Amino acid sequence: MHNFEFYAPTRVIFGKGTEMRTGELVKEYGGSKVLIHYGGQSAVRSGLLDRVKASLEAAGISYVTLGGVVPNPHLSKVREGIALAKEAGVDFLLAVGGGSVIDSAKAIAYALAEPEYDIWELYAHTRKAKKCLPVAAVLTIAAAGSEMSNSSVITNVETGQKRAYNDNLARPKFAIMNPELTVTLPDYQTQSGCADIMMHTMERYFTNGGNMELTDQLAEGVLRTVIKNAKILHEQPDNYEARAEVMWAGSLAHNDLTGCGNAGGDFATHMLEHEMGGMFDVTHGAGLAAIWSSWARYVYKNCLHRFVRYALNVMQVEPGATDEETALKGIEAMEDFYRSIGMPTNMKELGIAPTEEQILEMAEGCYRAAGGPKGSAKLLQVEDMAAVYRLAR
Ligand code: NZQ
Ligand code: ZN
Repeated sequence: MHNFEFYAPTRVIFGKGTEMRTGELVKEYGGSKVLIHYGGQSAVRSGLLDRVKASLEAAGISYVTLGGVVPNPHLSKVREGIALAKEAGVDFLLAVGGGSVIDSAKAIAYALAEPEYDIWELYAHTRKAKKCLPVAAVLTIAAAGSEMSNSSVITNVETGQKRAYNDNLARPKFAIMNPELTVTLPDYQTQSGCADIMMHTMERYFTNGGNMELTDQLAEGVLRTVIKNAKILHEQPDNYEARAEVMWAGSLAHNDLTGCGNAGGDFATHMLEHEMGGMFDVTHGAGLAAIWSSWARYVYKNCLHRFVRYALNVMQVEPGATDEETALKGIEAMEDFYRSIGMPTNMKELGIAPTEEQILEMAEGCYRAAGGPKGSAKLLQVEDMAAVYRLAR
């Protein structure tokens, strides 16, 4: 077992109607001028934005608004937010949406706290943040886990780079999670979210090195819960209990709970997907599903004990076969699960067809973004990254 530090400072307010507490909570955390940041149309159409505004007004808190955040959020929108927030004297960032909106809000919060620097320096990893304004979230999709995570992922469209910056400074002060808010999601988004939640758990699970039994059991519990409830939501999108299970799983999958005591996680699949997102603008969770089984087949022999455990404890593969057979059955069962919820298992099903040149470009981009070889189940060199992309075509 490795030594670890667990830091989950985000206060979680979970359940029906909780968005009406937004104003009271912002006030408690010292916000007096809020930037309400949101996405395309969903929060407007559902009336959520109006409810959040009413709650702020009831608490006597003034605000400005900025919508238009797109999935794989753009640096240009971050810059627009920085300019608006500076002019308005914003001291608190409130994200109403999913991972994209929360990540964009985190980026704006960093920039406002240290206005003398260019924000992209953080994402280019040429500088570390020293300060960040407070951020909070009213979550509308269970997926990225940004509501409790230390991460923010922004896409620089001009360079085609999708890059993450991770720092505890930006962990949200509070996250309002009302599972009812996710009922309006299209099935593809719900299921992409489930794929992402599972992947956050699996990135921490498929490691070589120290492991804790409790951490493994928590991880397996998260995975089994998401598999069960993703299938329920595929048939019954308005099932509140299933929405709630998935929403809570989404936060626990990426607040580091399922990684305590392990070797720090693999995260190669995420790095590989981020390049696909930067180049082809794919939905993050679906992109992960499309690449995972190719990654798994490429690396499983280097981390066989974990793949066997996964097959038996998560995918309920019958014991009795050889370790290799069991591991492969687990991977196949996972592909069957993805298909059953309408998720892709390769890039063709995802709707992209990268050329050999694009594969090399993504592999090199992934290698650069990772700062060298990446992975724990198997340490991937740049040629391994290209090989995984080729397998996933
Ligand atoms: O823009 P609107 O109209 O709101 O539509 C959104 C968007 O099109 C829609 N949506 C969200 N809530 C809805 C809804 N539609 C109907 N009803 C609702 N209640 O869903 C679409 C996707 O939203 P988005 O915020 O992009 O989803 P997600 O939470 O999956 O976030 C994806 C982004 O997060 C990054 C991903 O790379 C991607 O850029 N990630 C962030 C992480 C983090 N900060 O910790 C970790 C992840 O690994 C991930 O990389
Ligand atoms: Zn993810």
